[in-house]
Amino acid sequence: MLERTHRWRHAVITAAGVVAAAVVLASCGNSTGPKNDQNALRPAGPYANKILDLTKPFFWIAVVIGLAVVVATIYVAMRFREKPGEERAPTQTHGNTRLEVAWTIVPALILAVMAVPTIATVFDLAKKPAAATSIHVTVTARQWWWQFTYTDPNNGVETANELHIPVGVDIALTLQGPPPGSCPGPSCYQNGVIHSFWVPALNGKKDVVPGRHQFLKLKASKPGTYLGQCAEYCGLSHADMRLRVVAQSPADYQAWVQSQLKPLTPKALAKFDEYNKAWTCLACHSDEPKVAGAVGPNLTHLADRTKFAAEVYALGYDNLRRWIFNAPSMKAMEENPKDPLKPKVGMPNFSNVGMSQQQADEIARFLLCNTATDPNTNAMFSSQLQAAGQPGC
Ligand code: CUA
Repeated sequence: MLERTHRWRHAVITAAGVVAAAVVLASCGNSTGPKNDQNALRPAGPYANKILDLTKPFFWIAVVIGLAVVVATIYVAMRFREKPGEERAPTQTHGNTRLEVAWTIVPALILAVMAVPTIATVFDLAKKPAAATSIHVTVTARQWWWQFTYTDPNNGVETANELHIPVGVDIALTLQGPPPGSCPGPSCYQNGVIHSFWVPALNGKKDVVPGRHQFLKLKASKPGTYLGQCAEYCGLSHADMRLRVVAQSPADYQAWVQSQLKPLTPKALAKFDEYNKAWTCLACHSDEPKVAGAVGPNLTHLADRTKFAAEVYALGYDNLRRWIFNAPSMKAMEENPKDPLKPKVGMPNFSNVGMSQQQADEIARFLLCNTATDPNTNAMFSSQLQAAGQPGC
């Protein structure tokens, strides 16, 4: 009777295990994975393809070895287990030279074979593309956003979090921490932590190490938006340090570059100056093309971007007005209770230093109406503002 309950319990546990394994494995059912735009199994360019080409055979080699080990373990456990009514010590053996040599040499051979394409891929991906046919962008990892400076061809476009690239062209990235002197004071030092740049559809990840210049190349084979994010823990808002790569036709890309080089209108610049006098926006940001903000994104063409705060919030009136009023309530920042205007890291909480929500609303409206280069974008924000009971642009 006792024997029977035991057997039943075994059967139930085995069945539960099989069901659980089936459920887990079902999530891998689609070999190309979920459509979440951040997926190394859906490469969109030659470098990510190269990595996937390496991953696939290695995965199956691992499956075969894993299964062989599991099956052998189960076989040995069943075959040599102590049977009921049997009371004997197993045969004692010590050492087996042939077996030991075999299980040393066979794995070494397998690893040696796998090393050949691995090393070839590592060297391929580290090869710098010809400068004449590629576009060079310096990526500065900040806490917690990405600064993109287009340095070659030397057009100097300064943008944040949204990297525009032409399809079919090699993009050579230099990844760096905040360069010394780019931002004075302790906040600069605190901006200098290790991050990792990763756009899974376009290439593998690469650490961004302060004081070093790391190389990474990207290439997209078809137009599209490819999402990425920081892949190395870098403090409070690590999870909110995202980015997107917008791959466009070469003509669209050129048009984008030209749009980003347009300065603000003199009227807009004068207004910006007014806001700067009140809130020192330009101590961190910049309102001129080609000029990097000291610690914050260049805002000249903020309204051309689809999101802000490192791709965390959709760019729109309601999000932006709340952000300007009290950014740390929307994204974790390191505030400085002694001087809220000089946070340790991140955008200050302006509601703490006398800004009213109405004043924040006005700045949000100003930015949305004056920093877009596309008239359609302007019209979109105009109707958004009117829907919120504000005058349009
Ligand atoms: Cu930057 Cu994590």
